[in-house]
Amino acid sequence: MTDFLEKGIDRIAILTGAGVSAESGLNTFRDSGGLWEGYDPLDIATVGVLDSNRDMVLDFYNSRRSQLNDCLPNPSHLAISNFQNNFSGHVFLITQNVDDLHERAGSSQVLHMHGSLRSMRCDYCSEEMDAIQKFEKSTACPSCGKAGKLRPDIVFFGEVPKGLDEIYIEIRSADLFVSIGTSGVVYPAAGFVAHARDNGAICVEINKEKSEVTNLFDISYSGLATEEVPRFFSSLLLKNKI
Ligand code: OAD
Repeated sequence: MTDFLEKGIDRIAILTGAGVSAESGLNTFRDSGGLWEGYDPLDIATVGVLDSNRDMVLDFYNSRRSQLNDCLPNPSHLAISNFQNNFSGHVFLITQNVDDLHERAGSSQVLHMHGSLRSMRCDYCSEEMDAIQKFEKSTACPSCGKAGKLRPDIVFFGEVPKGLDEIYIEIRSADLFVSIGTSGVVYPAAGFVAHARDNGAICVEINKEKSEVTNLFDISYSGLATEEVPRFFSSLLLKNKI
């Protein structure tokens, strides 16, 4: 499965999207007609909606956080963490997902470029902290004591994704870029493949169906993440040992 990798691979950047968590029972954003759990992502993740309808937004993310307690990492999360722990070179994991399934699968490093359900912050004191399981407009900030400005630490449309400087350094230096379970619709993540490719990386996509940027990858595997991801990374580990 990795026979195409003729040159030595030492630095790998992995990008994951909602498709890796789909088989854990978390809905993707766009598979069901552009809705996420019945909501248009633009309605519950756009700058401004916190001011216009904070209760709805907090309620929505409280439910998503609670849903995490009912799902488990699947074989694709486990295969990625196994690879991170056993590959002799450098692996950098970037996820667009706000769930914590990579961490629960044992991934030692995960950059949540769109934020995390497990984190919240206060717009009064700017403190970032572990999220309270359920918080509302009336909940006082544990740091400054003021109520009304706590929000999930999630990057909304119109805000800048987290860790971009570090991400671009990693992508620029990667020999191999692997994109898994993402539709290639939302930028800047959708542009990473072009960036990796321009800097000489071999680019591999694993997705259930063609993404918007499939044509930019050297190799595309179409299939379920729980099958294709373990297959790909175990083949890469094996090749690395020879
Ligand atoms: P999408 O819902 O846009 O795309 C998920 C992709 O995963 C689709 O291309 C599916 O075909 C694929 N897929 C679904 N099930 C799969 C499976 N079992 N195995 C493999 N592939 C599967 O989700 P993302 O691309 O992650 O942003 O969305 C990107 C961003 O858009 C999200 O991070 C979120 C959203 O708005 C923010 O919240 C800021």
